Amino acid sequence: MTDTAPNPLRDPRDKRLPRVAGPCVLVLFGVTGDLSRKKLLPAIYDLANRGLLPPGFSLVGFARRDWDHQDFRQIAYEAVKQHARTPFREDVWNHLSEGMHFVPGEFNDPGAFDALAMAVKELDTSRGTGGNYAFYLSIPPKFFSTVTEQLQRSGLAERSENSWRRVVIEKPFGHDLKSAQELNDIVHRVFPEESIFRIDHYLGKETVQNILALRFANTMFEPIWNRSYVDHVQITMAEDIGIGGRAGYYDGIGAARDVIQNHLLQLLALTAMEEPTSFSSEAVRAEKAKILSQVRLPDDLSLATARGQYAAGWQGGVKVSGYLEEEGIPQSSTTETYAAVKLEIDSRRWAGVPFYLRTGKRLSRRVTEVALVFQQAPHQPFSQTDTEELGQNALVMRVQPDEGITVRFGSKVPGTSMEIRDVNMDFAYGESFTESSPEAYERLILDVLIGDPPLFPRQEEVELSWRILDPVEEHWAERKKVEQYKSGGYGPDGADEMMARDGRVWRRL
Ligand code: BG6
Repeated sequence: MTDTAPNPLRDPRDKRLPRVAGPCVLVLFGVTGDLSRKKLLPAIYDLANRGLLPPGFSLVGFARRDWDHQDFRQIAYEAVKQHARTPFREDVWNHLSEGMHFVPGEFNDPGAFDALAMAVKELDTSRGTGGNYAFYLSIPPKFFSTVTEQLQRSGLAERSENSWRRVVIEKPFGHDLKSAQELNDIVHRVFPEESIFRIDHYLGKETVQNILALRFANTMFEPIWNRSYVDHVQITMAEDIGIGGRAGYYDGIGAARDVIQNHLLQLLALTAMEEPTSFSSEAVRAEKAKILSQVRLPDDLSLATARGQYAAGWQGGVKVSGYLEEEGIPQSSTTETYAAVKLEIDSRRWAGVPFYLRTGKRLSRRVTEVALVFQQAPHQPFSQTDTEELGQNALVMRVQPDEGITVRFGSKVPGTSMEIRDVNMDFAYGESFTESSPEAYERLILDVLIGDPPLFPRQEEVELSWRILDPVEEHWAERKKVEQYKSGGYGPDGADEMMARDGRVWRRL
């Protein structure tokens, strides 16, 4: 199947058939990294366990390690045992591991790429992988261009008429608009757009996909999804973890580039966009790009942004060190581990409705959610004392954990008075569906192998997101200083002050 051929498994008439990948090799660069161990290798096993990989499926690991195939299989085995979502089955593992190979090498070593080319050709013959290769670049962004060029030089990127090549690029795609454009040019010299899969794993999450289902498959939400009813929107991605062993990646990148440019702006786009003409990848991505192009930063960024860096503190009863004490972080680092920004959208639907985005590491708990906070009722027939405890209505899409949707509204407290207080009405995935949701990476890796692009941002979205973020980064770079916040808390005071200036408060974490 070529990249552009329609995929018969996507035909609506066949929607009850599972989507299964055809013959192929997946080459994983950066196989020794954290992401590969915790997410990618387990997701590949989970796909195999669900019967969604073809019989001859082959996985080739490439890294700068003196490993043989057996070492690679052992590392993958441990990763799968520890992190896979689905139960471990010996027969599935044995079958999968037979197709696992390792090629040692440096990214700038042409000889290693020649060896890789020979290895995958050999797999075409021995395992019937059909000359179809997906290259997954789970590597530091500074190596993206080197690896892409090596793939071209070694002939690995060259497809024939009956085979496909795809390249998967982990975020962040560039570190600003200019570098994203340069990287795009480099990748485009080797791969056509339809072969490029830019990963934003949030789009692979069921709860994120459900934003569109909630909005466009139902009647009751869309009529109030606009400036006439919504006071403001809060998009939160709070983490309780620190940077772990990722100092090399994280320092100099920071929270805004790490997750606002991609995950949070994608959540904003799905929440704010208009209904697409269809759910084809082009139509959905066009609507997302349209709304991102309407996003505007307030004029005074010192009033509309906040950032911070975690200091030592207590988390879950454990004393934890501050960012500057983490291994590999220079004492002088001003990289932010918390970022908040207020955005506005120049459209008829959203004019005057601020979107507040915040993310931070080492906060009191892990939660990702999108909350639409509604205006107060235009008139209250109840006395002020009766409604003292009444807040604003809210619709909260909980991405994780406790995946689901909560509607918050006022209700009469049982008793003789007319006291009204906030209550929650909950939909929880765990209670409504028996099947547990696939991990984001299961969905995305399968989509790559099938060649299904809707859940991958296209270049236009990436560039529009950098256009939004670049002025914020420049503003912060000029000021240098970064506020400290206590680990295990709610983030820097500056973020609360930013909301207070607008007469609002963040939702409690
Ligand atoms: C990644 C970021 O994209 O997302 C990490 O680079 C972050 O810093 C991670 O920890 C969070 O992912 P999830 O799926 O656990 O919310």
